[in-house]
Amino acid sequence: MAQNTKKISIVGSGLIGQNWSMIFAGAGYNVCLFDVDPAQLERAKSNISSTLQRYEKDGLMRGTGTAVEQSTRVSTSTSLEECLHSTFYVQECVPENLELKTKVFAQIDKVIGDDVIVASSSSCLVASSFTEKCNHRDHMLVAHPINPPYFIPLVEMVPAPWTKPEVMVTTRTLMEEIGQSPVSLKRECPGFALNRLQYACINEAWNMYQSGLLSAEDIDKVCYDGLGPRYAFIGPLETMHLNADGIVDYCKRYAEGAVDVQNKTFKPIPTLYDVPTAEKIQAEYNTSMPLDKIQNKRQWRDNRLAALAKLKKEMGKND
Ligand code: NAI
Repeated sequence: MAQNTKKISIVGSGLIGQNWSMIFAGAGYNVCLFDVDPAQLERAKSNISSTLQRYEKDGLMRGTGTAVEQSTRVSTSTSLEECLHSTFYVQECVPENLELKTKVFAQIDKVIGDDVIVASSSSCLVASSFTEKCNHRDHMLVAHPINPPYFIPLVEMVPAPWTKPEVMVTTRTLMEEIGQSPVSLKRECPGFALNRLQYACINEAWNMYQSGLLSAEDIDKVCYDGLGPRYAFIGPLETMHLNADGIVDYCKRYAEGAVDVQNKTFKPIPTLYDVPTAEKIQAEYNTSMPLDKIQNKRQWRDNRLAALAKLKKEMGKND
């Protein structure tokens, strides 16, 4: 992959801003990272460099060029104007706060040219809530990554009602080019797509635990040794298609049973913040994941996600 002379701007240099920087730099782009906190910007630059070196050593680095070459594609600036100068794409990564995102989008709006695309990493806030008053609002959208974006490629692209369809298309092409896996929602909705599926799963897990059906450890196992391996390769609708002679046949054979299970078990709104249940689950985790060792477990998770990403990439080549 040749060095791309085009410039990407990242606004906010925390966890997600650093991940986007490494992904774009790996794809050959010149990246400029901005943050209101100069000390954080220094830390971000140093983290990016050390993380890329670790990934290179472990064979997990994406893109081309050495870790040092990729790191040098990332520059920093304490001036928003300078960061946005002659950019063609901005990825906003400031904290999830409506007032702050509205302010930051207004600042970006003042500086950019008419063709620049501005995407927010927002996890929940929809673009219409913070871009409405922007002059360039038809070039603004949400491009929501999943943590850790370097190893989980999905990006949920969500337009505001005024986002131009061609902006969605261009962003989708860019995401594919840098090795992410974009999906395009047709309109805004709470939770986008991933969290709607995730919450359905968490809700059922909570209900099963609360009713004393099985332990927290066994509920987690149902996912990581059951649904999870399958869903790493095929989605729920494809599962239906493959588990019968096509999805129409699946519906004929299994819909009645599925509806019956739902009718007998479904509780739409579990008391998710029911502290006694949360405390019981946490007590179960005290042996396997005590709170003072949780960072080790996060590192363990990221290493395994990295290995899976590598495997999927290698397998993809042979498909
Ligand atoms: P973070 O707290 O790690 O980083 C935010 C950065 O923004 C900080 O470095 C802060 O100094 C900077 N900042 C604050 N005000 C600013 C301003 N006015 N201009 C420029 N920079 C400013 O947050 P994180 O986790 O990186 O999240 C960023 C966005 O990504 C949020 O919208 C979040 O919901 C979303 N997201 C987070 C995920 C996660 O797991 N952490 C996953 C997917 C999306």
